[in-house]
Amino acid sequence: MSDPRLLIVTGKGGVGKTTVTAAIGRATSRAGLRTLLVETASPGRLANVLRVPSLEAEPRPVGERLDAVALDADRALASFVQSLVPLRLLSNALLASDTFRIVAAAVPGIAEAAMLSQLLAWLEPRGLRRPAWDRIVLDAPASGHSAPLLSTPETLGGIASVGPLGTSLRRMSEWLRDPARTRAFVVAIPEAWAVAEAAELRAVLRDEVRVPLAPPIANAVFPRRFAAADEERLLSERAAGSVDDRLIAAGLYFLRRRGDEKSHLRELRRATGEIPVELPFVFDPDVRLDRLDPVAAAIAEVLP
Ligand SMILES: Nc1ncnc2c1ncn2[C@@H]1O[C@H](COP(=O)(O)OP(=O)(O)O)[C@@H](O)[C@H]1O
Ligand SMILES: [Mg+2]
Repeated sequence: MSDPRLLIVTGKGGVGKTTVTAAIGRATSRAGLRTLLVETASPGRLANVLRVPSLEAEPRPVGERLDAVALDADRALASFVQSLVPLRLLSNALLASDTFRIVAAAVPGIAEAAMLSQLLAWLEPRGLRRPAWDRIVLDAPASGHSAPLLSTPETLGGIASVGPLGTSLRRMSEWLRDPARTRAFVVAIPEAWAVAEAAELRAVLRDEVRVPLAPPIANAVFPRRFAAADEERLLSERAAGSVDDRLIAAGLYFLRRRGDEKSHLRELRRATGEIPVELPFVFDPDVRLDRLDPVAAAIAEVLP
C-alpha cells in the first residue's frame, strides 16, 4: 500500500504513449503497486498491447495487480452531472434532454472536467473507502488535446468557483499541481519533429498548466549493436567502397541511425534542460505487454 498517485503520459501521436503507459503498468504492478491503466482514445491500442479483446467503461483486471479501463467522455459527463445534481430523477431528466447536450457543447471543458473528475473518483473514493489503486496511469490525449484537458480546472474554475462544481474543480487542480501526487511524462522519439514538439509541450505543461514533470522520455531508442572494433571495420569497408555488400550496407545504416538518434537526444536534453530517460526500441514486431520488460525496467528508474 502506498499513497495513490496519478501518472500522466502524453506526447505527439505515434510516439509510443500507449506503449509507455503499458510499460509503466508492467513496472508498477510488478513492484507490488495496484495499478489502473486508463485509456482516453477510443478505440485505442491499449487493449491490443494488453492482449484483451477490449477495454470497458469499468476497470477490469488485465494482470496481477493490473487493471485497465476506457475513460469515455460521454459516460464521464453523465456521472459528473449526477454527482453535481444529486437528485437522480432530476439529473436523469437533465441528461436525457437536448438542453443538456446543447449546454455541454457550449461549455468548453465540461467533458474534460468530467473525465478528470472520474479519475479523481478512482484515486480518492468518497467516504472511508480506501483507494483501490496505488497508481493510476493516464494514457492522455495527444499533445494538442492534452494541455486543454489538464488546464480544465482553471479554465472552468473561472466560470464556476463556488458550489459543488467549484469544489470539484479545486480538488482536481490541487491534484494536478501537487508533485507529491502527480507526475506528467512527455514522450518523444529520437527524431527532430518529435523532440521539438516534446520541448514545446513540456514548456506549456510546466508554465501554463503547472503540472509536475518527470524527466523527458525518449522512446524507441536504437541500442548499440556493434563493438568498437566492428564499428571501425564497417567504417573502413565504407571507405573502401564496399557498400554494395548488403550486410555491410545494413550495418552502416544502423551506425548512421544511431548517430542521428544521439544528436536528437542531445537536442532533447538541450531544449528541456534535463537528461532524457532512454527507453529501448523493441525489435519484436508484436510490441505487447510481456515483451515490454526492457522498457519497463528503463522507465522504472524515474517512477515515483
Ligand atoms: N519502444 C518501442 N519499440 C518499438 N516499437 C515501439 C516502441 N514504442 C512504441 N512502438 C510502436 O510504435 C507505434 C506507436 O506506438 P503507440 O504506443 O501506439 O503510440 P501512441 O499511443 O503515442 O500513438 C506502435 O506500432 C508501437 O508498437
Ligand atoms: Mg495511443
